[in-house]
Amino acid sequence: MQQALDAVEERLLKAVDTDQPLLRQSGSHLINAGGKRFRPMLTIVCSHLGDPGRSGIVEAAVALELTHLATLYHDDVMDEAAVRRGAPSANARWDNSVAILTGDFVFSQAAQIMADLGPEAVRAQAATFARLVRGQINETMPRPDGIDPIEWHLQILSEKTGSLIATCAKFGAWFAGAGERTIATAEEFGEVIGVAFQIADDIIDIASDTSGKTPGTDLLEGVPTLPVLYALAGQDPADGRLRELVSGPVAEQDLPEALELLRASTALVEARAMLSRYQERARLLASSLPEGPAARALIDICDYMVARDA
Ligand code: IPE
Ligand code: IPE
Ligand code: MG
Ligand code: MG
Repeated sequence: MQQALDAVEERLLKAVDTDQPLLRQSGSHLINAGGKRFRPMLTIVCSHLGDPGRSGIVEAAVALELTHLATLYHDDVMDEAAVRRGAPSANARWDNSVAILTGDFVFSQAAQIMADLGPEAVRAQAATFARLVRGQINETMPRPDGIDPIEWHLQILSEKTGSLIATCAKFGAWFAGAGERTIATAEEFGEVIGVAFQIADDIIDIASDTSGKTPGTDLLEGVPTLPVLYALAGQDPADGRLRELVSGPVAEQDLPEALELLRASTALVEARAMLSRYQERARLLASSLPEGPAARALIDICDYMVARDA
């Protein structure tokens, strides 16, 4: 595992090594800033559902982490985020144009690596990216009439986050030559754990000061996350002030109050309950995989998902 992850690190930096000085600096900026490397880790773990010695596994992991990385450059422009991976975001350190072009550049490098993996891989990555973008754009739009706000939101999370994590798991199993059913289960596991991952992340945005991002960014931007949706749906008159605060983008001076009220709210408890449901679903999927170290590692990932928002 470690050897494969080291190879991923090396290939990531190589991918953004260009003779254009600004792109070289901006492209390596977020790779060097760190990050959990959750997606490549998942690809490598899932490769152990088959033969992890087969070719293409590290390349798939690199191309998909680069795809993720490209979306972070663009997402921080959309969200006007100042901090990413504990470092200044590219839009803050340079400007929006540099951040957007760097995202495009990183994506082009992902595409080149993907091309070597064959047309089926390219098609799968393109379809994944289309779902991701669909989720990102739907998040910025008013919810269509007649759809339950929580249901709509969970669908967005599947698209913007579950899509790519599903493909990471799928590619690991697929390039390792696992059987068709195993590949499909790994993919579904990725989708479900991806949603859990995003819910945990949105809880962390409220509950933690140590995420490497600015707490309350979603609140300031008026991005509706699960805890906020539960707060807005609540009926308790005691939560009137909280509902008033989070009914739109929170003003900078109201942020400490909004965070304090949310941290003590039943809405946060409800969001944690939804996280547990996804975690349970993911655990069932992992348990249905052929018994072995890979399936056990996937079950451990489910436990980590809940521990990480504590
Ligand atoms: C950030 O992803 C975007 C979300 C889906 C929440 P990660 O939390 O995996 O970010 P890094 O890669 O560790 O920085
Ligand atoms: C991250 O989404 C980008 C994608 C999932 C494509 P968010 O805006 O929810 O995540 P953070 O909080 O910035 O990492
Ligand atoms: Mg964001
Ligand atoms: Mg966003």
